[in-house]
Amino acid sequence: MNFDLKTLELTAAATEKCDLLVVLVPEGFRPGQDALSVLAAHALKCGDLKAKAGTHLQLYLAPAVSARRVVLLGAGNGSARAIRQALQAIATTFKLPQVKRAVVCFAGEAQPDGVSAAVQAVADASYVYATTKPKAEARTLNRVVIGVVHAEPVREAFAHGVGLVAGVEFAREWGNRPANHATPSLLADAAKSLGSQPRIQCKVHGPAEVARLGMGAFMAVARGSEEPLRLIELRYRGASKSDAPVVLVGKGITFDTGGISIKPAAEMDEMKFDMCGAASVLGVFRALGELQPAINVVGLIPACENMPDGRAVKPGDVVTSMSGQTIEVLNTDAEGRLVLCDVLTYAARFKPAAVVDIATLTGACVIALGSVRSGLFANNDVLAAALSAAGDEAQDLCWRMPLDEDYAEGLKSNFADMGNVAGRAGGSITAAKFLQRFVGEFPWAHLDIAGTAWKSGAGKGSTGRPVGLLVHYLLGHAQQRSATGTVKAVKPALPSRRKFQSKPA
Ligand code: BES
Ligand code: MN
Ligand code: ZN
Repeated sequence: MNFDLKTLELTAAATEKCDLLVVLVPEGFRPGQDALSVLAAHALKCGDLKAKAGTHLQLYLAPAVSARRVVLLGAGNGSARAIRQALQAIATTFKLPQVKRAVVCFAGEAQPDGVSAAVQAVADASYVYATTKPKAEARTLNRVVIGVVHAEPVREAFAHGVGLVAGVEFAREWGNRPANHATPSLLADAAKSLGSQPRIQCKVHGPAEVARLGMGAFMAVARGSEEPLRLIELRYRGASKSDAPVVLVGKGITFDTGGISIKPAAEMDEMKFDMCGAASVLGVFRALGELQPAINVVGLIPACENMPDGRAVKPGDVVTSMSGQTIEVLNTDAEGRLVLCDVLTYAARFKPAAVVDIATLTGACVIALGSVRSGLFANNDVLAAALSAAGDEAQDLCWRMPLDEDYAEGLKSNFADMGNVAGRAGGSITAAKFLQRFVGEFPWAHLDIAGTAWKSGAGKGSTGRPVGLLVHYLLGHAQQRSATGTVKAVKPALPSRRKFQSKPA
């Protein structure tokens, strides 16, 4: 889909030939003499339209207006939140087969964040999953003009929105693909395709290399599957070589049956979404390729299936992780932490400024936070605050959870350094405590996106979260670094792991 930013007063908007013209009418709207202003002013006066975000009125054959269909849409205070809320209220309009070309026009001064939000909301509303669906049902909207009175002050925000959309849609499409169209090898191919973008490189490791690295926990999960595992390594180099990178680690279980600790049949199809962490990392790289910020980023994705089989890892098996720590696999369905722990060990090689892992890790996180906020765990307050703020800005919210050492009690094992599960209570926290044992001397955060990465029910599908949060965080990191002229965007190496067990926020 093509987005254009155009200088457009309402007078000019009236002559735009398009299938849909959306006029965003803010609080305190000051109408001019043009046809659209007169319409909006009249509707407001009659009380059929309110400036409150989301209230709207559809018009056809509006006199002196070229658009086939006009929507007058209340835009509230014009903030990102309000614009998003407003456009969400007319989301179905952007999927209508007749609507190929749309103009979204800000009546009155547009805020930069509002423009970026408009781009994202229109993309979000019009996205249609494509890979395995008939072409006839594909997205029809193909050109969107964002009209503003003054283009220059919002140009950067507009470009940011467009870049972010490319990333979010890449993540959604890969998240939505069924497991037989998103195998570990296909995910690796998707990552390689990103290598054609400027500053991005991709390396893919197969089973032999992963064995050489000693990733016994990751290999244990992959054992039960006919599909060979892949360890995907992406690099984005936007800053000098000496700049410590941010490392993103995405859980890439392309299908989670639970393994021998097999899941019940109901809704098991949704476990094709168990690679949404991986998809979000791919999406971030897609956006980085567009936005080209001055920062270094590494993306690591352990990708495999979790299947039951004659060779599959069994409950009670003890495996040796890359860190040397042994793990008693008490439940083969707690596989995410097994693939992640080895890659967290591997991440230390990059001498990272920070490591953020993203995973559909626990059903317990869905119980705790629902589908509104992702779970955020961190061993570093600066990193946690930066991620929280990025989530707020991107309207891709998260909520900090505790990491008190007492939560690790249940991970004790009689047969290994630790078990991979710790009972039902506080399940998302004990999973994070498990991961923390593999975190080196660097700021680390873990995002549990089990509740936010996809929607169930009639609108079943991937959300593309938390690409928005991550891209905002990375752009903030780049900006802060260039402002201070140092690499210290987040606090450097921690004095001791113990001291940084965080207390509840
Ligand atoms: N991929 C699941 C987590 C999940 C479950 C996400 C349901 C979204 C919806 C993960 O691998 C898993 O199975 N976790 C187990 C852990 C348990 C065995 C300790 C869970 O949450 O039930
Ligand atoms: Mn599982
Ligand atoms: Zn899983």
